[in-house]
Amino acid sequence: MQALSDDTFRRVSEIMYEAIGLSFSQSKKPLISSRLASRIHKIGLPSFEAYVDLLEDHNQAAEFQMAVDLLTTNETYFFREPKHYELLEQDLLRRKDRGPLAVWSAASSFGDEAYSTAMLLSDMQRKGQLGPDWSILGTDISHRVLLSAAEGIYPQDRLRHVPQEQMHRYCLQGEGPATGQVMMQESLRAHVRFGQLNLTKSFEGLGPFDVIFLRNVLIYFDTPTKIAVVDRVLATLRPGGLFFMGTAEGRVPCKTRLEALIPGAYRKAA
Ligand SMILES: C[S@@+](CC[C@H](N)C(=O)[O-])C[C@H]1O[C@@H](n2cnc3c(N)ncnc32)[C@H](O)[C@@H]1O
Repeated sequence: MQALSDDTFRRVSEIMYEAIGLSFSQSKKPLISSRLASRIHKIGLPSFEAYVDLLEDHNQAAEFQMAVDLLTTNETYFFREPKHYELLEQDLLRRKDRGPLAVWSAASSFGDEAYSTAMLLSDMQRKGQLGPDWSILGTDISHRVLLSAAEGIYPQDRLRHVPQEQMHRYCLQGEGPATGQVMMQESLRAHVRFGQLNLTKSFEGLGPFDVIFLRNVLIYFDTPTKIAVVDRVLATLRPGGLFFMGTAEGRVPCKTRLEALIPGAYRKAA
């Protein structure tokens, strides 16, 4: 197969930017080329150009989803950035109100962040520190990760930071062919739901939320897209609510007023 030409690379970049805000610099071309080449080979197409034609065909939504999965990373694990969960717990302990609590894990990937939060909130409910009316919404662009998140089944390794006590309380250990896998208990799953959402398009009607995780997804976007996404997401956060980003992502120059708490954690101005 011929190499990925600059023109075709530009077409892929434009399609992905328009659809989901992915922004690829020229330096990403070898990576994009190798990721798409194996897919093209697998489905028996003759060229990158033929594959891009497929991506432009609106009847090929499944292949488009496949390309999204190839060009993004879904890396995640339970209790990633543990200080964020500690801060959330401390903040909830200070709340006088034990009323409903709504959390959004935006770009949830396989749901590790949503279920980690569910473990924390469920523990707090057991200790009488939180009322029973709490819910977590996990959203992502990838249909594949959402299906898996809704199943709530994980390789044991992704729960390496989950304390033993919570493992026993909230996880069913797989046996036989499922050895090495764990499944989230129904008591947690009842509070967590997942749905598809593209952060770069409007999502009116969502929220309001008390806590939002928007971690490790902004890396894909250029600065104007980052600002637009962060402001749109923050519009769904209640004043005084907590907002978490990946600690390596830096501060986004959004228009919404935020108070910096610890790296990657902010409070929306009241
Ligand atoms: C690295 S994962 C982050 C998972 C989790 N938040 C964490 O920090 O562990 C990034 C996720 O962003 C999703 N994503 C990329 N572009 C998106 C978009 N435009 N809208 C919604 N999700 C998107 C990807 O599908 C991927 O699952």
